Amino acid sequence: MFATVAIVGAGPAGLLLARMLHNAGIDSIVLEHRDRAYVEHRQRAGMLEQGTVDALRACGAAGRLDREGLVHHGIELRFDRQSHHLDFPALTGGRSVMIYAQTEIVKDLVALQLAEGGPLLFEAEAISIEDDMLTFVRDGVEEKLGFDFVVGCDGFHGISRAAIPGARVYERDYPYSWLGILADVPPSCEELIYAHSDRGFALHSMRSPTVSRLYLQVPNDTDPDDWPDDRIWDELDARFAIDADWKLMRGPITQKSVTPMRSFVTEPMRHGRLFLAGDAAHIVPPTGAKGLNLAIADVVTLARALQHWFTTGSPDLLNTYSDACLRRVWRAEHFSYFMTTLLHRAPDQTPFDTRLQLSQLHRIADSRHAAAELAENYAGLP
Ligand code: FAD
Ligand code: DHB
Repeated sequence: MFATVAIVGAGPAGLLLARMLHNAGIDSIVLEHRDRAYVEHRQRAGMLEQGTVDALRACGAAGRLDREGLVHHGIELRFDRQSHHLDFPALTGGRSVMIYAQTEIVKDLVALQLAEGGPLLFEAEAISIEDDMLTFVRDGVEEKLGFDFVVGCDGFHGISRAAIPGARVYERDYPYSWLGILADVPPSCEELIYAHSDRGFALHSMRSPTVSRLYLQVPNDTDPDDWPDDRIWDELDARFAIDADWKLMRGPITQKSVTPMRSFVTEPMRHGRLFLAGDAAHIVPPTGAKGLNLAIADVVTLARALQHWFTTGSPDLLNTYSDACLRRVWRAEHFSYFMTTLLHRAPDQTPFDTRLQLSQLHRIADSRHAAAELAENYAGLP
């Protein structure tokens, strides 16, 4: 087998790259370790920057997103039992964000790929990458795939990263995780709520006018079974409490899972004909919703660079790919770290630490400059 571009992983990064290359007339083969149902139902992110929406529209993958996505013009910060609205268009010169679940992006891109694109092989696990040959296993049989370029879009637990010799890794763990739930209940808010409280962080997000997505900061190694539904709703109630009249609507919880938090960057994101994109190269803690958006920004940059190579023969954009991505990645790493440490309560947190957090939150509420800094990073830098 041969593909001009071999893509490992059918998450949002691998699928969007395959779509963009297809539109540019460049053939690819996508290998995905899991089955189709698994990748289409893995609950993850939901907040899309304008640039992410634009990229999906530009490649013809935004039909359902444009019908079902929820445009948000800001977020709400809660602390000290008060609520503060950040108006993104006013603070950023007109930018907004959109709520549309990663599961739905993956479903849309898988359907397009199967209908119009090159091969997308499920239950095909890449096991090694050499100079111009990839080995994968399908139905228990080892197969070889030759390529001009290979792109590791295989997430944090993939194999591609290890094929970059001498890479430098930067990482940080956090002493807390998120318990995430999906609930069949209309959202109790119009905008996402990020809540700082003495009991820890909570986030109210949504998936549709009838489905809410909520998160609670919990200790690492928390077992979701220790959190029966009533305990989750009571804790959310306590963390979102404000002096104004506001009520959190409860409903049946349909999914529960615990996600650890990590910051991680590997440099460089390229070695010869191998490129890394998305979670294969970098992880951010989810506060601020940058993970999915970074993955999309990487493949937009890479698709452009590959197209430039195939149309002009110039390697210039391929050569600057890693540095161009890492600039954006490190900005998002800082922002995600900032949002995480601003809003969560560390196990060893002192009253001094809490005062610093509250001082910064008040600064954001009171200063247009501080609010604009948060809004620009959240809505996405150009
Ligand atoms: P992935 O989506 O991880 O896709 C990688 C794909 O590669 C997978 O389908 C995997 O099965 C496949 N693969 C792996 N190894 C191989 C192999 N050897 N051979 C073939 N295929 C392979 N971000 C946010 O912004 N907000 C959130 O709330 C949020 N929640 C998250 C919750 C969880 C549990 C996780 C893990 C991530 C979360 N993220 C969140 C991050 C966001 O979902 C990721 O940044 C995004 O999925 C990255 O896309 P990707 O395509 O790079 O990687
Ligand atoms: C969602 C997740 C996030 O991490 C975030 O900051 C905002 C929204 C979500 O899953 O909807």
